[in-house]
Amino acid sequence: MNEDVLVRLDDSVLVVMLNRPAKKNALTAQMYGALAAAISEAESRDDVQAVLLKGEGGNFTSGNDIGMFVSGPVAEQRESPAVPFLQAMTSLRKPVVACVRGHAVGIGATVLLHCDYVVASDDARIRFPFVDLGLCPEFASTLLLQHVVGRNKAAEWLLLGATIPAAEAHQAGLVNRIVPLGLVEEEALSIAKRFAIKPRQALLATRGLIRESTEALIKARIEREGTVFDTLRRSREAQEIFQQFLQRAPDAAATRV
Ligand code: COA
Repeated sequence: MNEDVLVRLDDSVLVVMLNRPAKKNALTAQMYGALAAAISEAESRDDVQAVLLKGEGGNFTSGNDIGMFVSGPVAEQRESPAVPFLQAMTSLRKPVVACVRGHAVGIGATVLLHCDYVVASDDARIRFPFVDLGLCPEFASTLLLQHVVGRNKAAEWLLLGATIPAAEAHQAGLVNRIVPLGLVEEEALSIAKRFAIKPRQALLATRGLIRESTEALIKARIEREGTVFDTLRRSREAQEIFQQFLQRAPDAAATRV
């Protein structure tokens, strides 16, 4: 078991909590492995009908652990450690609710596009920082974000990488509901439980139909983005930006807005 990802069953909801608050729940290779296992567990267990994704300590997640991108054994792997998690998410037939507090950055933002319902606290801040990091977006967000918020808004968010306040994300359609901070956990769990008590066959069939038309496109786009991402990640431009972040250089503009 990985202590940085905690999993528990609450009625028929599998609650998956990122638990690395000292690093704003930045995701390591081990955490991706645990997330992939948790989502596969949700898929296979008959007593699970919905998933709730959340983060401990006031933030959803600050995204990939940037240390993982720096040249080294993990960075040199042929396949990114995130891939099994992305595959498990795209194959999952059951609904996923995200509970977003504080920062949702990088994959913390792109994963929202694969959820069925996003509940955010009024302090939530979402960011797609890829270009500023010398990278490109991932997890089919170059495809899905424009479906959700429109092409120009997607270009603004993906190319400029500014922090998106909860209210703007809600207005644009990325977030379903904004809730005061103190109530967000309760509200997100209650929505997940609403999915969990629906007639199962009808729920899964309808969800499948909603997703059917984009399924193949999403898989192809994840692969395509992965290839470009990997090339960019190895570039000198990106490696310098990662080092700036890790050394906390005052001009690490890539991660500061
Ligand atoms: N990778 C590695 N470490 C990270 C991290 C990440 N994605 N996000 C945060 N951390 C670490 C910080 O280095 C810091 O570690 P330290 O205490 O050992 O110095 C700790 O988590 C707290 O982060 P800090 O930056 O001090 O918190 P903050 O509240 O000032 O800012 C963020 C929060 C999320 C805005 C900021 O941490 C950030 O921009 N992180 C990078 C996000 C990013 O670009 N992710 C996308 C990767 S594709």
